[in-house]
Amino acid sequence: MERHQMDRGTYRVTFEPEGRSAFVLGGTNLVEAAGQAGIILNQPCGGEGTCGKCQVEVLENAPEPTAADRRHLSDAMLADGWRLACQLTVEHDLVVSIPQGTRFFEQLVLTDGEGRKYPFCPNLRKTHVLVPAASVEDPRSHLDRLKAAIGNRHLQTDLRLVKALPSLLGDGDGDVTVVCEGDEIQWVEAGDTTGDLYGVAFDIGTTTIAGALLNLSEPAKAGGQTVGSRTNPQVHFGDDVVTRIGYAEKHADGLDKLRKRLLGALNEIVGEVCASAGIDPEAIYEVTAVGNTTMSHIFLGVDPTSIGHAPYVTVLREGVDVKAKEVGLDINRNGNLHVLPNIAGFVGSDTVALVLASGMMQQGEVVLGIDIGTNGEVVLGNSERLIACSCAAGPAFEGARIRQGMRATEGAISKVVINEGIEVAVIGGGRASGICGSGLVDAVAELLNAGVIDPAGRILSGEELDASLPEAVREAVVEVDGQPAVVLAGAGRSKVGGPVVLTQRDVREVQLAKAAIQAGIQVIATEFGVNLQDVDSVLVAGGFGNFIRRSNAKRIGLLPAVGSDRIEYIGNAALTGAKIALACRDCREEAEQISSRTEYIELANRPDFQMHFMEAMMF
Ligand code: FES
Repeated sequence: MERHQMDRGTYRVTFEPEGRSAFVLGGTNLVEAAGQAGIILNQPCGGEGTCGKCQVEVLENAPEPTAADRRHLSDAMLADGWRLACQLTVEHDLVVSIPQGTRFFEQLVLTDGEGRKYPFCPNLRKTHVLVPAASVEDPRSHLDRLKAAIGNRHLQTDLRLVKALPSLLGDGDGDVTVVCEGDEIQWVEAGDTTGDLYGVAFDIGTTTIAGALLNLSEPAKAGGQTVGSRTNPQVHFGDDVVTRIGYAEKHADGLDKLRKRLLGALNEIVGEVCASAGIDPEAIYEVTAVGNTTMSHIFLGVDPTSIGHAPYVTVLREGVDVKAKEVGLDINRNGNLHVLPNIAGFVGSDTVALVLASGMMQQGEVVLGIDIGTNGEVVLGNSERLIACSCAAGPAFEGARIRQGMRATEGAISKVVINEGIEVAVIGGGRASGICGSGLVDAVAELLNAGVIDPAGRILSGEELDASLPEAVREAVVEVDGQPAVVLAGAGRSKVGGPVVLTQRDVREVQLAKAAIQAGIQVIATEFGVNLQDVDSVLVAGGFGNFIRRSNAKRIGLLPAVGSDRIEYIGNAALTGAKIALACRDCREEAEQISSRTEYIELANRPDFQMHFMEAMMF
């Protein structure tokens, strides 16, 4: 294969069957490269090469097998290019096929996968029946004949359906499909429509919304791989929930405007996933949604004002079931919406979904779950006890409040390595336009290791830098608008008309954000009575989490200093939880239990939070 012509040692890795590519620096681990292409791999042993579960097939340019490859893969597989992704370092352009079993999401949504196990039992089911025509010999009512055809006389229904029955059944034998929810007939459709039973699961984040389409008619097709996403259009009203609550509070039509913006984006995603799967939105009968508490309230048109003021109470904690048309979702006119329950004002159903997806509540092991989004939600526990808190980390790791911060999209610096100079990897492989969360973590950690930033978070001046530092690194330390800064990508490598820099203020933002998360983790660990070193596993959720390097996240204190084999990236666990609730009615009951059993800690009321926060400001 022809070497892709990129700057200094950058390679194209193409992932099949999607055909998605990532451009990465030489030396990048394949799991990270897959993460950059939006493909999350399962790493049960944390990338230590001991579990053998991260198998991929390298279709072109397979490197020499490592010792770990030889331990876990047969000679025939090695000859065919199979390798362990966690052991593979990218040194050439590669084409790699990722099998289903190695993907994180697939394992979670399969009932027989190795991840969270749950029964496939959607809330709605369809049954195709032939209802015999009424006759002198069989003068039973339409409804009785219908129930008899289904074989359940105890099914409930309502007047709306009864009114429609004469035209649905007609005068002859009625060929119909019955849509049931539990013991209730929801609707009856003409003909056999049993194959048209889909659902959409939504994760409504403050900044990003993601939706996944699931086939609810057959477990083998549940998949959920047709995914659409959008920036939450409410960002026009402020980048965090507090500003949006303020908007709803100050404007008479504020709540309605916020709700309609959100609804528009959700309906766009429904249209997009239906178009890419080639189905009609009428075939979608159910939607599940998770989000932070404010997003859930706004989506349902419930005033979120009380969440914004002490004592920060919610109007609604429990899960909600409502007809989708009542909230304006463009799905089947008889479709349902299920919004999962919240925990508290600042710990929402997205955290419930994380716990649901991880199976934490069934485990004896102590698990720490961290969702790094616009805020940091943290949950710690096991089958005995669950404790959660929300860390006011702010959106720094999503690129906000950073001078040249941006989301992890094309043009974002996603990785920084310091050797003889400062090398960066840019998403999409072109010139840099800014820096995203993973790049920030890398930049700060690498600059700390190089001694350019001191433990207090100060960028040293040129005179203070160690004389042994490579010249190119020393020259990268500059002054921008009167404050110290480090050039990550010079003007020649940027497409913003000047260099992409990390300023002293940016480092402070990272410090504040990581200190909030670090201190929150410490408070709930103390409350739980466990040393962080003794936590059995650390699950890192959120789109940002997929890209960060464990060692660097630990270096800056964002993740606890446990062995890397105990840290696992679980992708968008909120969306996974919403998908589980869509495919498994019984799991909704588990979500209610998670919501009611999780103890919420309000950090603002904890003096020890302030103490830990001050300590955590140091790197
Ligand atoms: S062997 Fe690669 S993740 Fe375990």
